[in-house]
Amino acid sequence: MDRWKYFDITHKRHLVCNPMTKEKFYRLCDTLPLSKGSRVLDIACGKGEFLVRLAELHDVSGVGVDLSPYCIRDCMRKKQERVPEADLVFIEMDGADYTPDNGEKYHLAGCIGASWVYGGHRGTLQALSEMTAPGGWVVVGEPFWRREPSGDYLESQNMKREDYSSHVGNVRIGEELGLRCAYTLVSDEDDWDHYETLQWLATEQYRAENPDDTDNEELLAKVLHGKNAYLDEGRSTQGWAIYVFKKIS
Ligand SMILES: C[S@@+](CC[C@H](N)C(=O)[O-])C[C@H]1O[C@@H](n2cnc3c(N)ncnc32)[C@H](O)[C@@H]1O
Repeated sequence: MDRWKYFDITHKRHLVCNPMTKEKFYRLCDTLPLSKGSRVLDIACGKGEFLVRLAELHDVSGVGVDLSPYCIRDCMRKKQERVPEADLVFIEMDGADYTPDNGEKYHLAGCIGASWVYGGHRGTLQALSEMTAPGGWVVVGEPFWRREPSGDYLESQNMKREDYSSHVGNVRIGEELGLRCAYTLVSDEDDWDHYETLQWLATEQYRAENPDDTDNEELLAKVLHGKNAYLDEGRSTQGWAIYVFKKIS
């Protein structure tokens, strides 16, 4: 089935598409030192919650980029409903191909939960840093290993051990690049459970409301695969955090 349709169905009830609750995510948005007119770039912006919330709180303007047509449609609807006057632009494209107009440097450049766009955590920090003004902020959301994953788990998830680091490793990678970590927000088990299990619930609802969808069997098979991997090992093995780095110079 179409990957964007799958993501749209499984994340239908999520406000943010990452393992962070609304309360913690809003705390982050509130805490970020931005002000009226600050320019923000969000690569893989999902449903646009980060930019819209920052516009509500700090009157920022900015650009959101996402490859999913469903997400961009949701972003535009959300902007219209909550901050119709804000200067927020949402673009449907591959984040890896995005280059700022006229070489603009943003006050904040983020990519929360999609580091594959730039080939991993290091590549993401590098790419975002290049689009950030000195003194600005680079914000990423990235998984980390809480303990060593088994070979079976890696295989079932089509992952490699070296795809991710530890929590401290994620901080150090940024600092090796000349960024300074200024704030972190770490997901706990409850945050993870909410993120993962809401996908199961949304899938049940979709199947009940769309019994004739020919994708239903594939949809359920994929969700059950993820559910079993999460319960068997993901829940105890993978962590996730949002890292706020300052671009020093
Ligand atoms: C885990 S979600 C995170 C979304 C959002 N940052 C959030 O935290 O709510 C990953 C997002 O990456 C988007 N995505 C996947 N590949 C992409 C790409 N190559 N370029 C831009 N967006 C991409 C997906 O459509 C999805 O919205």
